[in-house]
Amino acid sequence: MNLLVTGAAGFIGSAFLRKALSQKHKVVILDKLTYAGHMANVEELVDNSNCIFVKGCITDQKLTESLLKEHQIDYLVNFAAESHVDNSIHSPGEFIKTNILGTFALLEAARGYWSQLTGPEAVMKKIIFVSSTYRQMKFMEPSVKPASSTKSCHTDRTRPILPARLAVITLSELGITPISSRQ
Ligand SMILES: NC(=O)c1ccc[n+]([C@@H]2O[C@H](COP(=O)([O-])OP(=O)(O)OC[C@H]3O[C@@H](n4cnc5c(N)ncnc54)[C@H](O)[C@@H]3O)[C@@H](O)[C@H]2O)c1
Repeated sequence: MNLLVTGAAGFIGSAFLRKALSQKHKVVILDKLTYAGHMANVEELVDNSNCIFVKGCITDQKLTESLLKEHQIDYLVNFAAESHVDNSIHSPGEFIKTNILGTFALLEAARGYWSQLTGPEAVMKKIIFVSSTYRQMKFMEPSVKPASSTKSCHTDRTRPILPARLAVITLSELGITPISSRQ
């Protein structure tokens, strides 16, 4: 598989990068190298063949779209984030830019590229979004029918599946087994 991994110079992204490369996936890294990103985390892995490094920001939709197209990316895995929560008190704007506008730009770039594809390869394309919000945010599994029509729509419309669980399912499609999972 061809992966675009954003934020791979960070703490978790670099661990994912090593695992993905060890399992023979090709990886394009997109990282802005903020205070949280360290080239030292990835430079030994970058060989400009199986692992390419691009310095850039996830808010740059055109850049992401061109990388998806040029490298025929199958999976976009997003670790790029303002993750140091304390900083959000003094610099909330950076959090809005990267975590909200950046995520939106990634989704739009993916939509722009992948919606042009046809045939069986188009349905394999996926985005894995990594965040810390899994306790608050729940995705609904559309195939599960309502348990009861008498209960509140907030509690019984569908069975929620946690993003962490979604990530585990999707990573196993790549042949990557998470070290541990609470799901
Ligand atoms: N570290 C943890 O314990 C932990 C736990 C649960 C969830 N998470 C989540 O996992 C994700 C990654 O966490 P982490 O600890 O590896 O983060 P990190 O802060 O170590 O790394 C973030 C990476 O993103 C890059 N980056 C930041 N803004 C960018 C931008 N606009 N464009 C491109 N690259 C950008 C940085 O340069 C850095 O390499 C975050 O969403 C975080 O909330 C982390």
